Amino acid sequence: MRMVDLIETKKHGGELTDEEIRFMIREYVDGRIPDYQMSAMTMAIWFRGMTPRETAELTLAMEHSGDVCDLSAIHGIKVDKHSSGGVGDKTSIALVPWVAACGAKVAKMSGRGLGFTGGTLDKLESFTGFRAALTTEEFAEQVNRLGCAIAAQTGDLVPADRKLYALRDVTATVDSKPLIASSIMSKKLASGADAIVLDVTCGSGAFMRDLDAAEDLARTMIDIGRRAGRRICAVISNMDEPLGYAVGNILEVQEAIDVLRGEGPADVTEICYALGSRMLVLSDICPDVESARSLMKKKLEDGSALARLADMVQAQGGDPELVWHPENMPRANIRKEIAAPQDGVIVRMECDEIGNASMILGGGRAAREDTIDLTVGLILSKKIGDAVKKGETVAVMYANDEQKLADAERRFHGAIDYAPAGTPAERRPVVLRTLD
Ligand code: URA
Repeated sequence: MRMVDLIETKKHGGELTDEEIRFMIREYVDGRIPDYQMSAMTMAIWFRGMTPRETAELTLAMEHSGDVCDLSAIHGIKVDKHSSGGVGDKTSIALVPWVAACGAKVAKMSGRGLGFTGGTLDKLESFTGFRAALTTEEFAEQVNRLGCAIAAQTGDLVPADRKLYALRDVTATVDSKPLIASSIMSKKLASGADAIVLDVTCGSGAFMRDLDAAEDLARTMIDIGRRAGRRICAVISNMDEPLGYAVGNILEVQEAIDVLRGEGPADVTEICYALGSRMLVLSDICPDVESARSLMKKKLEDGSALARLADMVQAQGGDPELVWHPENMPRANIRKEIAAPQDGVIVRMECDEIGNASMILGGGRAAREDTIDLTVGLILSKKIGDAVKKGETVAVMYANDEQKLADAERRFHGAIDYAPAGTPAERRPVVLRTLD
């Protein structure tokens, strides 16, 4: 078999066989197919797409390109959630202990990630001492005992994705449905969950800007999950503006704690209900979404969801007192209110530009070796559809460097569009569609 023939097939819109796909991934990971040939292939896939069978086979070949997690020591149905990414997404920190308090087993492998803010693991390090590096035995024991753990991946999971993603990043082939779906799903399948709830984001802070494209991606991932024998469903959520008000690591953790106190922003709380209720249904804990929402409400109101976060933090070496007193987390030295430059109604918030403002402050990573400043970021005071007066505060920035603050402020202003006062502005709900 020769890679050049496979590229030729795909270039003309032909279908690759299962054997060809397995050959391509195996030889690429082992270094016998060079990057230049794989680049040509990813570009051919970008233009020609893949059939559902090809996409599923690509995912399985990627899943098995390295270690796969064996979670068989955990009793019952292991459920996980995955978000396709966005700005201000602190959902996992609230949701994982919340659904565990409802009886689910959430064995969550998470990453640090590149991007606007840290990944969930970086955020959890806001709890001084928090340890993400659990052994497989510690991880399973904790999930059996508490119903939840969030830990760094152990072993070498999906090396094919690491190599392919880096290549896609520099060959303008990230935004291809089969390549995104196989990248996300290979990692989810390799992490061993029996049931998966997908949060497919849509809007200016997401890969998918268009609702139908987001649904198409969600359906593709559901199809892959079903072919792999997993229980799976998806929620399509709005990412036209940041989720909640807080963007930045400690600020987001504090907002997640607000959610568990029953005082969180409506959109973050609602996406937790939408995802969590489906996690409970897929885990056979509740017969339907309505009863699952009632159970979640009960566990929020009686304080057990928040208490479970404290238990999880403590079990992983973090300071649980910070769950009860998040105001004691470290703070940035500079606090600056950002004023609206004019009267009007906010009609657009370019989500990824707001993420970039937080990154300029030091809250995210441009390269893997960068260190993150957990204290910096911003808290929005207004969102799409809100009216403002000139000089009124639209956000508060938290920084440790005056120059970075000035750069971030400029970036932030460029992300917001105002229309004349009284102009009606459409604000989409956080849950746009559900695919059960
Ligand atoms: N997230 C991933 O893990 N992979 C993609 O290709 C896109 C988003």
